[in-house]
Amino acid sequence: MGPHGVDFGPPTPHINQKRIGTAMKIFLDTADVAEIREYAASGLVDGVTTNPSLAAKTGRDYVESLKEICDIVPGAVSAEVLATDYDGMLKQAAIFTKIAKNIAVKVPLTWDGLKACAALSAQGHMVNVTLCFSPVQAMMAAKAGATFISPFIGRVDDIGEDGLGLIRDIRAIYDNYGFKTQILAASVRHVMHVREAALLGADVATIPTDVFKKLLGHPLTDKGLAAFIADAKKAGVVIKG
Ligand code: E4P
Repeated sequence: MGPHGVDFGPPTPHINQKRIGTAMKIFLDTADVAEIREYAASGLVDGVTTNPSLAAKTGRDYVESLKEICDIVPGAVSAEVLATDYDGMLKQAAIFTKIAKNIAVKVPLTWDGLKACAALSAQGHMVNVTLCFSPVQAMMAAKAGATFISPFIGRVDDIGEDGLGLIRDIRAIYDNYGFKTQILAASVRHVMHVREAALLGADVATIPTDVFKKLLGHPLTDKGLAAFIADAKKAGVVIKG
């Protein structure tokens, strides 16, 4: 029953009541400091994800870039290890976690990666487990105490499988067992991925800047605004202070 005695029926299935009031976080998927500075000025960027390929594109020292990025955004900044063995991951994680409190150490979804995830989480660090391509991998990452799990929806679509289905399955498994690991939709290719990730209850979407720019664009918004301005001008409507 609704607040005014009206029966609204069962909730819309894609709306998970538990997440109402906590909007999906928006991260930028780039290591380019200038781009991050530009888009973060909107006040709508919560965090950043980087990876070795994105870092390589900038041609800059990775740790230096991360220091600057951590100062720009309020939320988690993912810094990805290059080591593939447990000891090596922990050594590189120690370098990253000294940078700032908002560093999330990014580790691959491997046995060593999940072991490192458990150790880093136990030390109180945020951990983003990356390269997730199956719901069971995501369940194992949650058991290892991951703060974020990164299912790569675009890369799953690229091989003719269902990237958004992966988000749906992980959401169901996490909700079944009350896992607190946040689902971070990664490898986002277009605005529809953002829309569907939000409908499915992803906690975060990490978005390349070319997609971020398109989040607000709508031809009817542009047309409607032009008409409002033109009508006011024609009739001499002014706003007096
Ligand atoms: C972010 O954490 C991932 O590394 C990134 O989204 C991968 O995106 P891509 O598949 O476009 O390289």
